[in-house]
Amino acid sequence: MYKQLAPERACYLLMPAPTTLVVTKRPDGKFNVMTASWVMPLSRNPPLIAVAIAPRRYTYECLTKHGEFTVCVLGPDMKDVAMYCGTVSGRQVDKIEKLNLKLINLSKVTVPGIEGSLAIIGCKLWKDYDGGDHRIIVGEVQEILVKENCFADTWKNVELLYYYGGEKFITIRIP
Ligand SMILES: Cc1cc2nc3c(=O)[nH]c(=O)nc-3n(C[C@H](O)[C@H](O)[C@H](O)COP(=O)(O)O)c2cc1C
Repeated sequence: MYKQLAPERACYLLMPAPTTLVVTKRPDGKFNVMTASWVMPLSRNPPLIAVAIAPRRYTYECLTKHGEFTVCVLGPDMKDVAMYCGTVSGRQVDKIEKLNLKLINLSKVTVPGIEGSLAIIGCKLWKDYDGGDHRIIVGEVQEILVKENCFADTWKNVELLYYYGGEKFITIRIP
């Protein structure tokens, strides 16, 4: 037996999805951070990833002015940070200052990552496509930092934070 679901619920059938923080440079030179879980791998060569970002987000405005960003992959200890950065806009609050987040500089991208992340993927904006009520932001990966001892060819011996809507998160343990 199946039941009908409204078409706009489809996105929730494709979650849980990884919880990440997207960091961008603000026009005043400071940085903004927002939570994003609609992220996906796209291409190995060239190395591309994609993030669906609603155009009303301050993050999108920052991205259109400075085409670099980082995608920081989170573990369960960053759940509260993810919830805060996913419900408050950088237009109103300097989230990095408010949460006293520490920044980690990369060498090939001028936008930093957030300390405490499991991995930081530094990107240059490759393309910005129409994606309905979101933009499909494609980033060309310039550089990656990953925490010691949790990644060999794939994740290992680590807990990842996944999100599936509302305030619902789940931890996935990779042996
Ligand atoms: C766990 C979680 C995941 C989210 N994923 C996305 C996403 O993939 N794309 C998006 O546009 N907004 C997403 N949001 C909403 C934004 O993070 C939220 O609107 C944020 O306040 C935008 O911040 P900004 O205005 O500073 O850019 C998510 C929120 C949460 C809590």
